[in-house]
Amino acid sequence: MFSRILITSGPTIEPVDPVRFLSNRSSGRSGYHLAMEARTRDLGPVTFVTGPTVWIPEGVEVVRVETALEMRAAVNEHVRQADVIIMAAAVSDYRSVKYYPEKMKKSGERLTLELVKNPDILLEAGRSKRRGQLLVGFAAETEDIFANAQKKLQAKNLDLLVLNEISEANPAFGCAENQVFLVRPDGVQKLEKTSKALLAARIWDEIIALAGHFAPGNEKRP
Ligand code: CTP
Repeated sequence: MFSRILITSGPTIEPVDPVRFLSNRSSGRSGYHLAMEARTRDLGPVTFVTGPTVWIPEGVEVVRVETALEMRAAVNEHVRQADVIIMAAAVSDYRSVKYYPEKMKKSGERLTLELVKNPDILLEAGRSKRRGQLLVGFAAETEDIFANAQKKLQAKNLDLLVLNEISEANPAFGCAENQVFLVRPDGVQKLEKTSKALLAARIWDEIIALAGHFAPGNEKRP
């Protein structure tokens, strides 16, 4: 159905010294289930670019990376061939300005670590998006979730945004279950809380419907 599916998954880790890094609570489950669902449905060859996680799908091309800069390089290498791009990775927004080649010794009561912003891989993919390419992003929001989601959808030139409302009842990160909203430029759909495996199936249903909408011959095709 698709000529190439590119999925990013898992956290990135940003080293500080030989034994320490900055990262986040992403387990990599969502990306894993999206890749496995694509494989089960035989939707097309999958390139899976992943940060460090145990959730590695079988039967797909796996590109392992650690940092956001490595993930961006891997995405740049594969993005042009992809007609569906799903960025489920929880990319570290910042990395340490400096890598300390020797283990940092503890000294004073306080320590300030200077951070610098990582590139926004999803934003870059949105900027270089070509005709017929479908771009799906994830978002984790805690306030003004729908307004922020619509802003992200526009700013990053996305076709679909999988919106996580992070709360105590729905931590999303590191869990087997999740409740999300599917946000499109023309509306929002709430998906009830369910396993990330079933959510992956629902997200693919939506992508396939969008792909039909985009198909050659459809005069509404963008
Ligand atoms: N993403 C990315 N590169 C980054 C940061 C995020 O590709 N450096 C992608 C993620 O893979 C995901 C989406 O952007 O698809 C997540 O965005 P989110 O973290 O919710 O918000 P941000 O865009 O980072 O903005 P903010 O943290 O200000 O909400």
